[in-house]
Amino acid sequence: MCGIVGYIGNKKAVPVLINGLRSLEYRGYDSAGIAVLEDNEIIAIKDKGRVANLENIEDIKNLNSSIGIAHTRWATHGKPSKENSHPHLDNSKQFAVVHNGIIENYHELREFLSQKGYTFLSQTDTEVIPNLIHYYYTNGIRDTDQFLRAVKSAVDDLKGSYAIEVMSKNYPDRIIVVRKDSPLVIGKGNDENFVASDIPAILCHTKDFYLLEDNEYAVVYANDIHFFDNSLEEHSKSIKSIEWDATAAEKNGYEDYMLKEIYEQPNAIRETIGSRFKLGEKCNFDDIDISKEYLSQVNKIWIVACGTAMHAGLVGKNAIEKLCKISTEVDIASEFRYRDPIINDKTLCIFISQSGETADTIAALKLAKSKNAKTIAVTNVIGSSITREADYTIYTHAGPEIAVASTKAYTSQVVLMVILAMYFAEILGICDENCVEQLKSDILDLPNKIETVLESADDIKKFAEKVYTEHDMYFLGRGNDYCVALEGSLKLKEISYIHSESYASGELKHGPIALIENGVTVISILTNPDLVEKSISNIQEVVSRGAKTLVITNQKLSNVNFDFIMNIPDTNSLISPILSVIPLQLFSYYIAKNKKLDVDKPRNLAKSVTVE
Ligand code: M6R
Repeated sequence: MCGIVGYIGNKKAVPVLINGLRSLEYRGYDSAGIAVLEDNEIIAIKDKGRVANLENIEDIKNLNSSIGIAHTRWATHGKPSKENSHPHLDNSKQFAVVHNGIIENYHELREFLSQKGYTFLSQTDTEVIPNLIHYYYTNGIRDTDQFLRAVKSAVDDLKGSYAIEVMSKNYPDRIIVVRKDSPLVIGKGNDENFVASDIPAILCHTKDFYLLEDNEYAVVYANDIHFFDNSLEEHSKSIKSIEWDATAAEKNGYEDYMLKEIYEQPNAIRETIGSRFKLGEKCNFDDIDISKEYLSQVNKIWIVACGTAMHAGLVGKNAIEKLCKISTEVDIASEFRYRDPIINDKTLCIFISQSGETADTIAALKLAKSKNAKTIAVTNVIGSSITREADYTIYTHAGPEIAVASTKAYTSQVVLMVILAMYFAEILGICDENCVEQLKSDILDLPNKIETVLESADDIKKFAEKVYTEHDMYFLGRGNDYCVALEGSLKLKEISYIHSESYASGELKHGPIALIENGVTVISILTNPDLVEKSISNIQEVVSRGAKTLVITNQKLSNVNFDFIMNIPDTNSLISPILSVIPLQLFSYYIAKNKKLDVDKPRNLAKSVTVE
């Protein structure tokens, strides 16, 4: 999805902007551009294609300006092209704008501006914004606040979601920013300030951030920042220090972010566990305030998310139902928000989102709140949009996840959901304390066990080398193993472009087995001792129809004729996905590498899906 960077200070803006755009490449984009103020004129350089293309443009190297705005665009309105790339300028070239989000009423605004004599060079929704600003600027009262008031009047006309950054040749000392339903942060430096849609873009310059609220304006100078509410009343704002290390958002010698993030899982899980529990003590969540009275009357828990986060929710459901005996349902956010789900004040809704910016998940949360449910957000990104909407926020603390394919975020979400289930069970006082104590001990052992799984990466690599040319693959499992099958299949699709399906093993005979023929690859996850016999029978059914089988298991299997068995350490079934998913993450990774694909930036995908 689109990315924004801005700089004003004492350095040359271009390298800061380009560097920032490079850090945002992971979000997915198809064009890039910058605008700076040079000799009192706005110079915009933009085109479709990669940020690297921009850097090679000769003119860009001669720009010395110390104020600029920049953008990576993921096409929504109009194809990727130079004209449609941001920044967009108004007709008089006094204002330059970059914008993330979607302006829903841009047709009507374009019509209005056309009648006033404005013309348009692009097919984008964004181009109305600089022209609207110009319109209000030239038709408003002329005083020192004229620029800010013109931006505010223009923004008042917009319907939709936006993070907007504006620069004017008449005001070379400031950048104005505003947001609604799309993230924007301001990084504070010494005699310089930064703007970004995403913290990693400017993390190498500062760890001190202002997180802009919806409908809040900021006027950013090199030495100062002024904040205004929606009525343009000025207010003060507190700064947040972000603990993330700048190097955490770099590759640190790994070939790809995805591989690095797979290997970061032991530490990510340690951070997720943090001080949330110790052996012999009850779980504690300082971040939420849920009483026994409240929890005892909850008749339904919804877990709502998209993609991988939804798969983590499925494992969370199994833990909550097992430990808390509260009926729990998992739904895809884009379905949940439109199907009039049954929600009331006795419903607890948990929304999981790595980025905290997924449009459907946030909309689903707003819906739940409007129906009086209590809402909890589980996210990885501090201050992300979802945290402002939810009653409570719990952070996974997995560190920045840059690769589009989610890995460490998934395992940390799963751990967090299981800890949350234990916490609820302890509040309710209905759990078998010995069982929970054993589960806590098993969770604490996870980081070491993940390291053991990672040591077998070469075995998975060899299997991937054998099958990477295939066109279809199938993933099977029962219970939590089925949840992992869903995740393994998604991972394979998104980075290797191989068609794959996942099925609950018991469903095989109800249709999918018709697809099994000689040489088809079937990957089975088999970790639940109670279901091992049944699962083996299902795998035998595909073996006898000629399938090539990879089995990931923590069970001792004898007398089986599977092609490849990957042994992983044993653990409690409630948390087995954290170990069994890792071979599947590696499997997808090595398949994509064998196919020479861009693992971190798969085609058509964006890291955070901030539009519907
Ligand atoms: O940021 P979120 O967790 O809300 O993102 C949800 C999905 O878009 C995300 O998990 C997606 O499915 C990943 N690319 C999967 O690897």
